Amino acid sequence: MSNPTPTRRSFLKKASLAAAAVPVSGSVVQLAGAVHQGGEKLKLGVVGFGGRGTGAVINALRAHPENVLYAAGDAFADRIELGLYEAKENTKGVVRDEQFDVPAERRFVGLDALDHVLASGIDAVILASPPAFRPEQIEKAVGKGLHVFAEKPVATDVAGLRRVQAACKMAREKGLTVVSGLVYRYHAGRRALVQRLQEGAVGDVLAIQGDYVTGELWSFPKAHEWTEMQWQLRNWLYHTWLSGDLIAEQHIHTLDMMAWIKGDTYPIAATSLGGRQKRTGEQFGNVFDHFATVYEWEDGTRGFAYCRQQDGCAKSVNEFVMGTEGRANVFLHTITGKNPWRHEGKVPDAYQVEMDEMFAAIRSGKRIDNGDYMCNSTMMALMGRMAGYTGQRITREQAWNSAEVLVPDKVRFEDTPPKGVVAIPGITKFA
Ligand SMILES: NC(=O)c1ccc[n+]([C@@H]2O[C@H](COP(=O)([O-])OP(=O)(O)OC[C@H]3O[C@@H](n4cnc5c(N)ncnc54)[C@H](O)[C@@H]3O)[C@@H](O)[C@H]2O)c1
Repeated sequence: MSNPTPTRRSFLKKASLAAAAVPVSGSVVQLAGAVHQGGEKLKLGVVGFGGRGTGAVINALRAHPENVLYAAGDAFADRIELGLYEAKENTKGVVRDEQFDVPAERRFVGLDALDHVLASGIDAVILASPPAFRPEQIEKAVGKGLHVFAEKPVATDVAGLRRVQAACKMAREKGLTVVSGLVYRYHAGRRALVQRLQEGAVGDVLAIQGDYVTGELWSFPKAHEWTEMQWQLRNWLYHTWLSGDLIAEQHIHTLDMMAWIKGDTYPIAATSLGGRQKRTGEQFGNVFDHFATVYEWEDGTRGFAYCRQQDGCAKSVNEFVMGTEGRANVFLHTITGKNPWRHEGKVPDAYQVEMDEMFAAIRSGKRIDNGDYMCNSTMMALMGRMAGYTGQRITREQAWNSAEVLVPDKVRFEDTPPKGVVAIPGITKFA
């Protein structure tokens, strides 16, 4: 394990400190006169080298020829090897071989992989394990002065979310970039549409329907050599303490979109009808397979948010905005009514754009700060889950005061996982 060269280290530090000196108002901070030439090597680590971790690594290495994967961590060895294989296969001819500088001694396996990756001499880290671990990961990464890419959601309980908020504040003070995996925000068509909506293209927004209505996802059967904890970690989607349930793990994209359209204002209350009808077996842990949630904004706007993971049913992943002077179809990037409009521009891959912008920011001395919306949209999802599980109308204030702690302080393979009970609306109490 080699230490970063003083030149490279000082370039990154200078960029960070310069950014810290500027007050943070928007999500991207432009530094007055502090632009650095960013052609130097930048070392990346990944924690959670599954499907998304692999995709994010590919995008990060494509973002700049001097971005180098320097350390990789995962709970399981096979995921690291598969992730590396996939990343190399999918970047042939585009990414240089030298950008994969991750020999065996910098491939860290186990639940303490995080600490080893963070201590390996990297400059930025991709956090793409199950969401339950994100608070500790963001906290420690920022503590070490690293730039962070954090997949969504950033917590599965409010206790964790508060830790992420505090870490984002620290990142601001240290001038570190924090990019969220809420990828719709990096989509050119959606950006253009939201700008128009915020300029009043459909008049006042009265209601938004947001769908993440889709099919079922993967699961791994129990293997003899796995402990119960290992089995749950392999099947993290189905355990609320690990994933946050589908409303947080997947539907958060829709909820974040709604809040973005509403100018980054967040609902004051939620009511939700949810349950599980098809995914009732032991392999599906304790999560629901559908939620239908009504969000209320202070100005009277209503958000009707539907998510479902059931095969054999109609599918829809889109948002529909209804205003006093028109409507918008977000997926199609169209507006009809008084000010008709269609996005005609190019729409590059948003996963690539988020990494291009992240590393351009780090290398130029600007910083990107997605901390506020990644926390607030996570809260919007948790509030909807609380409403769905309890069958009660849950206010934002109540939700922020939730004392429920789902994630243990320390998670080890030999531990018994937290007991996941399937919630029953009307019986399950708000905690
Ligand atoms: N932004 C998007 O569009 C998008 C798409 C898919 C997934 N995601 C998010 O990315 C994250 C990962 O999802 P995925 O689909 O890649 O799942 P995955 O199961 O393919 O990958 C998760 C990886 O994390 C590993 N892991 C589990 N516990 C760990 C720990 N404590 N430390 C280190 N590694 C650990 C697993 O072994 C696995 O390899 C989730 O937060 C998910 O919501 C985002």
